[in-house]
Amino acid sequence: MRYFGCDYYPEHWPEERWAEDARLMREAGFNVVRLGEFAWALLEPQEGRYDFVWLDRAIAILAQQGIQTVLGTPTAVPPPWLVTKHPDILQQDEYRRPRHPGSRRHACANSPVYQEHSRRIVAALASHYAANPQVIGWQIDNEFGCHNTSACYCDHCAAAFRRWLQSRYGHLDALNAAWGTVFWSAVYTAWEQIPLPWAAPAAHNPGLLLDFRRFCTDTWRAYQRLQVDLLRRLNPAWFITHNLMPGFTGLDYFALAADLDVVSWDNYPHGLGSPAAVAFSHDLMYGLKQRPFWVMEQQPGPVNWRPVNIPVPPGQVRLWSHQAIAHGAEGLVYFRWRACRFGQEQYHSGLLQHDGRPDRGYAEAQQVGAELGRLPRLSRPPASVALLFDYEDLWALQLDPHHRDFDYWRLAETLYRRLWAAHVPLDVLPRNADLNGYQVVIAPAPHLIDERQAARWRTFVEEGGRLLLTFRAFVKERSNTWTEQALPAGLHELLGLRVAEYLSIPSEDDRQAYPHHGAGRLVHAALGEPKATYPYRLWAEVLDLSAAQPLLIYADGYYAGTAAATVHRLGRGLACYLGCWLEDPLPPLWEALELERHSLPAAAPPEVEVVRLCDENGRPVLFLLNHAPVPQAVVLDGRYVSLLDGRAVAGQAIIPAGGVWILQETAV
Ligand code: GAL
Repeated sequence: MRYFGCDYYPEHWPEERWAEDARLMREAGFNVVRLGEFAWALLEPQEGRYDFVWLDRAIAILAQQGIQTVLGTPTAVPPPWLVTKHPDILQQDEYRRPRHPGSRRHACANSPVYQEHSRRIVAALASHYAANPQVIGWQIDNEFGCHNTSACYCDHCAAAFRRWLQSRYGHLDALNAAWGTVFWSAVYTAWEQIPLPWAAPAAHNPGLLLDFRRFCTDTWRAYQRLQVDLLRRLNPAWFITHNLMPGFTGLDYFALAADLDVVSWDNYPHGLGSPAAVAFSHDLMYGLKQRPFWVMEQQPGPVNWRPVNIPVPPGQVRLWSHQAIAHGAEGLVYFRWRACRFGQEQYHSGLLQHDGRPDRGYAEAQQVGAELGRLPRLSRPPASVALLFDYEDLWALQLDPHHRDFDYWRLAETLYRRLWAAHVPLDVLPRNADLNGYQVVIAPAPHLIDERQAARWRTFVEEGGRLLLTFRAFVKERSNTWTEQALPAGLHELLGLRVAEYLSIPSEDDRQAYPHHGAGRLVHAALGEPKATYPYRLWAEVLDLSAAQPLLIYADGYYAGTAAATVHRLGRGLACYLGCWLEDPLPPLWEALELERHSLPAAAPPEVEVVRLCDENGRPVLFLLNHAPVPQAVVLDGRYVSLLDGRAVAGQAIIPAGGVWILQETAV
């Protein structure tokens, strides 16, 4: 990994302390900091009067210890003088109430005044630092969409949305037809009549809602672009990134990433029991550009903003750090250097405590720093299994879930988790990706119809690929209106089936009220009851098979005895369909997809994450990360040497709780 460091706020501490901080950073092995992303009020205390002197000094002091700087453009918080002078830069919520200043992210990206001032501060900063070799790159703004601000409902946005619709549809007739505005008498006769999804008695038109999501992404993408273009012009050698938050689903990250050189993201794991969820985020972030990413904020200990800010056990920060490296991080930056005495995040841990003494996180970061010195330059080999991910499918299903717990993200993560636990490496790709080189492709709920995609999947299968599509496939047009065809539209020949009925399944608690539904169990088609049963929940489809063979059968309910999952052989490959939401392993589907052939050469329990990278010479390097609180046994194929301590390792190995082993295969 090339870059290792922390998010540092020198402006929060007296200048006399900076040299000591820089020294401690060097002792941890750091070579980079991120600075300045919330410092607009200090950098421009009055309109047009800039003060970069303090930042120059901080950058120079860090440079003396060999630490370079990534600067954040400070646009996530406009300074108070700007808001007071131009209150209409404030975002508005669905009730058209301003999002007041006093915290952050309250400015509207469609406000011309805000755009102009953003351009000014970024140009001033970038010209000042263009020739400073210590500044190696930029983070644009900070976490677009954080605190639920990806959508703004102000008049600037209303005007911009109408312009956006005009260029998408050309004519109002086309828009009325696409959205089906004849429903509930919303036929528009002038562009000005079109609302934003302002708070209304009932839901807005789904076509409007989906277009509004697209528009929000285009808004932030254009705002990001405004800054990217300026920075690129002033110094083309800089790399440019933005720190994403995979849990925020308001913006299409594939689109935002397209204009960046490097993706970075902020890793605040949700509890400790979800290493697969963290791995999924890493892989999605890698997948946005199919290249190494940065973790721009790595949790260093407990945070302050969860309902319960659970403790982080010893070893966990190191484990998270190595997990990031294993998934392809080329930069790892801890948030934050030192816990702050004032402001909104006083209980947030840092690598140092409030009093400036190293906390546990510092010791672990320092250990990682030393360990990085023992690793070769690593890269991710391409996987043979791909999971497709699409923000528009996610939004369409969020807008009309048909079951309060239906969640596209969770579905994708659930499928990912199964593969992760079986140590099957995979790439997360956009839905329209080229599938060349992949042998197994899994698409969770590909909801919106795309005929070209259907053709691509068909070729993939005919040429020997193994494809799995799940329920809720190809239901709606891109305008978010229902297809005229039987479901899944245009996929009948590929899958050898149609969907006869779709069912929103009552939860366990509600089950008694729906006795006709049964217990929500499936049986293995080839084995039959009682040898293997699998519970399903949330969603089920009754399938009408034309050419497909059943793999799983509904065991109860009025549709008992019909197929719940199928396989259809076509050409040299096959296409599977999963008709219901399963949380547990899926042996029959697993076998049909031959996933076992793709798992890594270590027999390890699910809690031990196994990841393979390559060194510069293409030699495999195996990461074994024990996420369990107890030691775990792993049986290895082949002979290895531990890169962290030089030990020879072969056969059965016991990895301590929270342990990290990094092994290179040795010639026999
Ligand atoms: C991030 C944010 C940081 C800080 C951090 C606290 O989402 O980018 O500025 O607030 O959360 O965990």
